[in-house]
Amino acid sequence: MLSQKTIDIIKSTIPVLEVKGLEITSVFYKNLFTNHPELLNIFNHTNQQQGRQQTALANTVLAAAKNIDKLETILPVVKQIAQKHRSLLVKPEHYPIVGEHLLGAIKEVLGDAATDEILAAWAESYGIIAQVFIDIEKEMYNDSASQEGGWSDFKEFKVIDKVKESDVITSFYLLPKDHTVLPTFLPGQYITVRAKVAGQKYLLNRQYSLSDVPGKEYYRISVKREAEEQQPEGVFSNYLHNFINIGDSLELTAPAGDFTLNTDLESPVVFISGGVGITPLISMAKQIANTQPNRKVEMICASRNAKLQPFEKELISLSKQINDYSLSFIYENPSEEDLKNPYFKKQGYIDAAWLTSNIQAVDAHYYVCGPVPFLKAVVSNLKQLNVPETNIHFEFFGPSMSLEG
Ligand code: HEM
Repeated sequence: MLSQKTIDIIKSTIPVLEVKGLEITSVFYKNLFTNHPELLNIFNHTNQQQGRQQTALANTVLAAAKNIDKLETILPVVKQIAQKHRSLLVKPEHYPIVGEHLLGAIKEVLGDAATDEILAAWAESYGIIAQVFIDIEKEMYNDSASQEGGWSDFKEFKVIDKVKESDVITSFYLLPKDHTVLPTFLPGQYITVRAKVAGQKYLLNRQYSLSDVPGKEYYRISVKREAEEQQPEGVFSNYLHNFINIGDSLELTAPAGDFTLNTDLESPVVFISGGVGITPLISMAKQIANTQPNRKVEMICASRNAKLQPFEKELISLSKQINDYSLSFIYENPSEEDLKNPYFKKQGYIDAAWLTSNIQAVDAHYYVCGPVPFLKAVVSNLKQLNVPETNIHFEFFGPSMSLEG
């Protein structure tokens, strides 16, 4: 337990952290990777270069500081981060390294303002926050190892099929090399893929949603070829598209993540995807087809045009398996051919007016996935329609951050 004095000191540093938080975490990462370059085998270099990880960590440290005397209120956030940590093999021994560098960065940025008393208070509370993460992650490692066929490290998989789903998205079907049964997963979960990419000094890790249902002998991921292969965000996806073929190996950690379908409910579901954001949602919809075929499903997919829309056939065939199913394609730039598709419903973007006149379900749960600007727009549309926040579920690509701002 922290003393009241320590709690008061931590709380009094919040205004400074709010101003300097980003600077502190930037210094922190620079020093961390200088002293521990081996950690670059774990961290996503693109997120680092774009400052996204700095924002995510700064936000969390601040949230923790604000709630230091009632950390249970940030437990849902901690659990979500812990899922990501577990999927990247973050271990208890990493926490003191991070703590030391975080304190060092506070000292470096705040200078004389960071008194010994302040640093001691932060050291103590970091220890408490870190222990919360370590305990939750320990449970998660145990859970994933104790499932039938489960594992808690990286495991080698073989690519048994490679299927083009759109002009930019390709699916990889992955079978464990040791031929063990694959553990089940919750539709919506992701795995981490790790590989040594030629020309890269460190191992690269990326998370991809599982795009098929549990219970198959393989896991399927569907990867969008990002931008140009020379661009940092394109390195890994272009590597998979260009160099990974049937028979090749990839290393995977066990499924993780809490953006998952609640199958205890029977209420209608509306899925809204932007581009490759369909990947966790198609897994959820196929699971409904298998286990809750009477559950009402409305599937809304936004893309630039049909050539960029993956899984068209699979999405259409769900109408044969789900009794009350509707499918809408919304294309920004439809071709002449796209305009004739019976599932094409709108040219342009999803907006509140279109949602109001097209969504039939009452009391639905909404699952939304896509790039950040898309998510911001759709979630704000749903709020305009007075959909309760508890019924809106969404997942970002990249580190979690606030939808505000
Ligand atoms: C991701 C916070 C400790 C490695 C994250 C994220 C947050 C966060 C907010 C983004 C989560 C998301 O993407 O959904 C924290 C806090 C820590 C802590 C508050 C200490 C109490 C650590 C440690 C390591 C680590 C000890 C290992 C050295 C990572 C990695 C990611 C991550 C590799 C994925 C992000 C990427 O690759 O860009 N952490 N973390 N974290 N964390 Fe931590």
